[in-house]
Amino acid sequence: MKRRPLIVGNWKMNGLVDASLELAEDIRDALLDRERDIACEVVICPPFTSLYAVNRTLSDTPLKLGAQTMSAELQGAHTGETTGLMLRDVGCHYVILGHSERRQNQGETDDLITEKVRAAFRDGLNPIACIGEHSEEREQGKTLDKINDQLKAVLQGLPEKKNKQQHLVIAYEPVWAIGTGLNATSEQICEVHNFVRERLREALDSTAAKKIRLLYGGSMKPGNAVEILQQKNVDGGLVGGASLKVKDFMAIIDAVSR
Ligand code: PGA
Repeated sequence: MKRRPLIVGNWKMNGLVDASLELAEDIRDALLDRERDIACEVVICPPFTSLYAVNRTLSDTPLKLGAQTMSAELQGAHTGETTGLMLRDVGCHYVILGHSERRQNQGETDDLITEKVRAAFRDGLNPIACIGEHSEEREQGKTLDKINDQLKAVLQGLPEKKNKQQHLVIAYEPVWAIGTGLNATSEQICEVHNFVRERLREALDSTAAKKIRLLYGGSMKPGNAVEILQQKNVDGGLVGGASLKVKDFMAIIDAVSR
């Protein structure tokens, strides 16, 4: 079963509204220029404050919008939080959950990620759930144990309906590779992605297990994208720094088709 590759740009906390609009429009125009040759789905995740404006320039284009996090709550007294319905309202189709920067800096736990995955499905968003080991865990040979634990928490948040489960996206992002310029090797990526696919097969209905897309993230750039994206069970990338430069982001998108 063929999975449509997915390239996601995670802009993190970068860009005032004008700069976000400029970047989104440049990516949109570059995609429209070569629409027939684009072999993947493309999503950008600007900061919350830019979502509304960016969505207005993206409607009727192939470029989709995602958010960088969301609350697990539906509405009410949660100062500073954003519910999935609000994200849908400003055009989001996707939401990144459990990014290691949030696990580390905002104390997000596996239990909370379970709740957020559940909430994303409830609110009609496709979750991009991030999992990944720290360098010490890799050095101690605990990478797959860590991945297993985080993956279990993500899968606990899946809806009962089997045809909905396939909308989950998993991003393997080794924490030591994020923003460091150090990407994981193809062997390291394959080991984890094959492991994740196997766990999905054990845990889920066979169609969902085959259709869920597995992205790699962590210092993906034009120079390593072709090799990484060619690996079996790598269905795309979650791109941070390189997604802020149109030329680099487009080169990664082009790498999917090569
Ligand atoms: P990076 O970030 O590409 O800058 O390493 C990836 C991410 O944090 O999603």
